Amino acid sequence: MKALVINCSPVRNGATAEIAGIIRNELCSRYDVKSICIDDYDFAFCKGCRACHLTASCVMSDASVIRDIMKEFDEADVIVSVAPSYWADIPGQFKSFIDRCTPWCNTHEPHAMIKAGKKGYTVALRTGPNMPECERLIGSIEHFYGHLEIERSGHLGLTSVEYKEDVAPRKQEIIDFCKNI
Ligand SMILES: Cc1cc2nc3c(=O)[nH]c(=O)nc-3n(C[C@H](O)[C@H](O)[C@H](O)COP(=O)(O)O)c2cc1C
Repeated sequence: MKALVINCSPVRNGATAEIAGIIRNELCSRYDVKSICIDDYDFAFCKGCRACHLTASCVMSDASVIRDIMKEFDEADVIVSVAPSYWADIPGQFKSFIDRCTPWCNTHEPHAMIKAGKKGYTVALRTGPNMPECERLIGSIEHFYGHLEIERSGHLGLTSVEYKEDVAPRKQEIIDFCKNI
């Protein structure tokens, strides 16, 4: 079984990366784990042209970059997205990726598809103390999973996390979450 762990932050070595690393370590005895960071990929914003609604493919010149990420999704049985709050929602880079996945969105026919039967998990973190903001991020990512027909299988919100040093005291919460993946 393969797991894909995504750092949805543009920061490669911050709190999100720290959490993604703990998840990777917890899963690697049970899964073949691949880790990626949204910052590994360079792509433009969706132009909203809707050509993909008719053709199930993107007309933009960098469409292969998105296909490369979706190939990672397709090869995984389990997807774990780890996202920090940037202005009370997912980081713009990850939102832009989701927008560019419109060719795979099941609201129009034809649409591209990844293999069925995948499970999707979400971890949201933020510096502030209130959980509803984490729930908002979780909602954004689970909405995306839903339109890719990835089963929404579990989520974790972590408040009061700013820097990677803030993650160590939360390690057990993350380990417990991973037990259900
Ligand atoms: C541009 C930006 C916007 C942020 N907006 C919020 C916010 O609205 N609410 C919040 O609780 N934390 C916010 N934060 C804090 C991050 O959620 C927090 O520091 C997180 O740990 C960052 O992880 P990263 O360094 O791995 O990206 C923001 C951080 C940045 C850089």
